[in-house]
Amino acid sequence: MSAAEESSQLQWVPAASTIALEAGARLREFLAQGVETEYKGDVDLVTIADRTVEKLIRGRLAEAFPEHGVYGEEGTRERMAGEFRWYVDPLDGTTNFAHGFPHFCVSMGLEQRAHNAAPEDDGVLVAGVIYDPMRNELFTAERGCGARLNGKPIHASPIPELGESLIATGFPSRKRHDSPNVHFYQEFTLRSHGVRRAGSAALDLAYVACGRLDAFWEFNLNPWDTAAGFLLVEEAGGRVSDFAGAKFQLNSKETLASNGLIHDELVGFFRDLFAGRNLSPIPTPHEFAQRRAERAATAK
Ligand code: IPD
Ligand code: CA
Ligand code: CA
Repeated sequence: MSAAEESSQLQWVPAASTIALEAGARLREFLAQGVETEYKGDVDLVTIADRTVEKLIRGRLAEAFPEHGVYGEEGTRERMAGEFRWYVDPLDGTTNFAHGFPHFCVSMGLEQRAHNAAPEDDGVLVAGVIYDPMRNELFTAERGCGARLNGKPIHASPIPELGESLIATGFPSRKRHDSPNVHFYQEFTLRSHGVRRAGSAALDLAYVACGRLDAFWEFNLNPWDTAAGFLLVEEAGGRVSDFAGAKFQLNSKETLASNGLIHDELVGFFRDLFAGRNLSPIPTPHEFAQRRAERAATAK
């Protein structure tokens, strides 16, 4: 089948790609003109670009798919009772964007939900589009139809071992002191070719899908960060789960994606890390709190 024939089989990706390209072009314009940074939390940044581009995507999705719901990072909650729902991150990598670091993207993932699904239950992710406007790279997937980069099929890497892998992670911008991830970062760094922290979870997942990365993990991501990338990785032959290897859920707060081949090794390693086996022990949330209290007391 030719590439044109293949893409005519796709139901949602063509229209979603057009929307993501337009959204990405707006991000490029905002970047060129420069925008002020506002704070949602300690170091949780937002800009007019995030809000304007979410509004643009919301409007375009309503034109293309009037029945579909939209759940966006900047507050959009529309037609949430419908069968289809788009998870939208208009700008994944806001901190990079705000500093002029050219690594960020638009991410849109489509979920199909059973009519009687409970609000906390996931449906099935059926389409995903991630667009990097700085490299003009459009990653797309529809369930059962494979994953593509700028129209060409992509596949997860063939690397068989963690020791030969390049992996990635990210750190939360909220409750940073509560995150144990820096310990994981050190342990994984010492056991692989290296760990990248490039600042866009959606692009990290897209990079696992196209084999530039062999694995990615992060704590506490949100559905708009992971919905599109999850499907891309699966359609590219990789695997996504929680840290115990169980089914990935959009709200599971644990994302572990890999080429599939090193997944069991990663899950085993997470098990040892959480148990503190053969490794430096990881402080519990209680110990973190204790340390914070001690620090606060000595600062007085
Ligand atoms: C963030 C990025 C980052 C990840 C953070 C996310 P945002 O999204 O994906 O890589 O480490 O956890 O919150 O705020 O730039 O859309
Ligand atoms: Ca994000
Ligand atoms: Ca965002």
